[in-house]
Amino acid sequence: MSEHRVFPVPATWAAKAWADSARYEAMYRRSVEDPEGFWGEQGKRLDWIKPYTHVKDVSFASQDLHIRWFYDGTLNACSNCLDRHLATRRDQRAIIWEGDDPSVERTLTYGELHIEVCKFANVLKTLGVKRGDRVTIYMPMIPEIAVAMLACARIGAIHSVVFGGFSPEALANRIQDCDSGILITADEGVRGGRTIPLKASADKAMEKCPKVDRCVVVKRTGGKVDWRDGRDHWYEDLMSRSSTECAPEEMNAEDPLYILYTSGSTGKPKGVVHTTGGYLTYVTLTHQYVFDYHDGDIYWCTADVGWVTGHSYIIYGPLANGATTVMFEGMPNYPDSSRYWQVCDKHQVRIIYTAPTAIRALMRDGDAPVKKTSRQSLRLLGTVGEPINPAAWLWYYEVVGEQRCPVVDTWWQTETGGIMIAPLPGAMTLKPGAATRPFFGIRPALVDEDGHVIEGAGAGSLCMLDSWPGQMRYVYGDPDRMRQTYFDQFEGKYYTGDGCYRDADGDYWITGRIDDVINVSGHRLGTAEVESALVLHPNVAEAAVVGYPHTLKGQGIYAYVTLKVGIKPSDALRQELTEFVRKEIGPIANPDVIQWAPSLPKTRSGKIMRRILRKIAAGDYENLGDVSTLADPRVVEDLVNERKAL
Ligand code: WTA
Repeated sequence: MSEHRVFPVPATWAAKAWADSARYEAMYRRSVEDPEGFWGEQGKRLDWIKPYTHVKDVSFASQDLHIRWFYDGTLNACSNCLDRHLATRRDQRAIIWEGDDPSVERTLTYGELHIEVCKFANVLKTLGVKRGDRVTIYMPMIPEIAVAMLACARIGAIHSVVFGGFSPEALANRIQDCDSGILITADEGVRGGRTIPLKASADKAMEKCPKVDRCVVVKRTGGKVDWRDGRDHWYEDLMSRSSTECAPEEMNAEDPLYILYTSGSTGKPKGVVHTTGGYLTYVTLTHQYVFDYHDGDIYWCTADVGWVTGHSYIIYGPLANGATTVMFEGMPNYPDSSRYWQVCDKHQVRIIYTAPTAIRALMRDGDAPVKKTSRQSLRLLGTVGEPINPAAWLWYYEVVGEQRCPVVDTWWQTETGGIMIAPLPGAMTLKPGAATRPFFGIRPALVDEDGHVIEGAGAGSLCMLDSWPGQMRYVYGDPDRMRQTYFDQFEGKYYTGDGCYRDADGDYWITGRIDDVINVSGHRLGTAEVESALVLHPNVAEAAVVGYPHTLKGQGIYAYVTLKVGIKPSDALRQELTEFVRKEIGPIANPDVIQWAPSLPKTRSGKIMRRILRKIAAGDYENLGDVSTLADPRVVEDLVNERKAL
């Protein structure tokens, strides 16, 4: 991990970027000293139907928790992404869609996207969707996912996008949690040359969700699907009869725009709610400054729309800024490991935003696949989702960007709505592995175990002292969970769940989750979720899951499983449990290691000592710490011996 080189801002960047270091400092100071003034101005980036007169009404006090921004203003998120650009950008490309197969692509101009969205908004209305209704979207990476989301926003319906890699079970839970009565999906998805049976999974989920009485299916492959007349509708049929006129609904700034489920330390994923005015202000401002986005730049975020990165930085941020956003259906190494850079050349991408896990996988395949492409269009390289190890950072910087392009390592979360800590490329000295400085309006604090704020250099739990407009507002259906999850740890502060180190220059280095959340290839998973899945298996008595360092995935899933009395451990059972978890949650939750544990290390009060399990999983047997509080310290010895034998 040690890399001490630093990369100062090149003079050309400082001159051309939206912010050089003096401007960053001035804007940052203003944003934290006078948040009302700063955000009051920034909110004007959007088109408001009724302008706000109040900017901020926030309390982080746990007994009086409330967060409102621009709360007497009204607007429509969809018309901010589309209608307001029509006068100047009707024929500009809004979305460049690059198919899984390199010979397949589609573009939609702002004018075309506007028509599709209006038509689908009318389809939703015809199907009875009203303002405030929850619409579940379970789709592959095709332009229709953007159409569906924006159509919801247009009529004031709340979308809940569920990543296409989630299992029917996971989908059903999310549909039930937000009490959604309509599902938008596709016949099949396509990735890496293989098809993914989305409608079949949706069918299984709907069996458990009788309330879903409308299912709209986009035809992506034409593959065979089961059909239930009356419930299932082809997207294409509905669209062909739909009108292109649809007035946007006037929404309050604090009306929910969407729900996005994310994993926490408990078994049940949380429906994070983002609202309209503050969220859109925040994602457009961060998209402009962090990526130094200028008019005409072709911008590509490789994330899946099913995650927050896709919501904020494929759809809402770029479109509200009038950008051309690339949407990619495929994966980094299909048909071969040159694919990303070929896409950059083909579409003249200026800004690419991807995940460390993709960089590490490509790095493993060597420099040749990169070097056979030009990449001359590239100007900036972004990363998100997990800590980036300096070796991957340097490879990205030196091999991909040929030392021309700043690497912006952006730290944020589903809950934060947008980027929180990241270098502004014209302003900050880059350090491989550091997310560097807070964005405008962001007041990070490092807190020690006793809740004291650490000043100067040091490490602690990363918290936020004040709100920002993109912050989540509440957990859907569970008003108190916001406070319990994020504000009960340290009074008056938002608790992120990440550990962080601040160096003597004031730069922030995120060290990873300090709660029971793990980050597998940039996908966020709760260890409790995987445990809940494992114990559903009839042969499993108990399970404890931890993350462990994994060279490609960042973190891998390590499961300790105690079998029921009389059940014999076997490789076949191990395989069966692996399949079982994949079926319950989805392939992203594939356990990398299952270790049989005749018993688990517990305190006398019965609490599993995860700290010890993490160390054993990491092979770090020497520093297990104090095991004297365990009910039976010999358990640890047995686990270590098992682990060594694996
Ligand atoms: C981790 C993704 C280090 C972190 C936008 C956070 C990162 C969690 C970084 C949120 C980064 C994200 N450096 N860690 N640049 N970006 N993380 O909700 O642990 O899917 O809490 O949001 O990913 O994951 P989520």
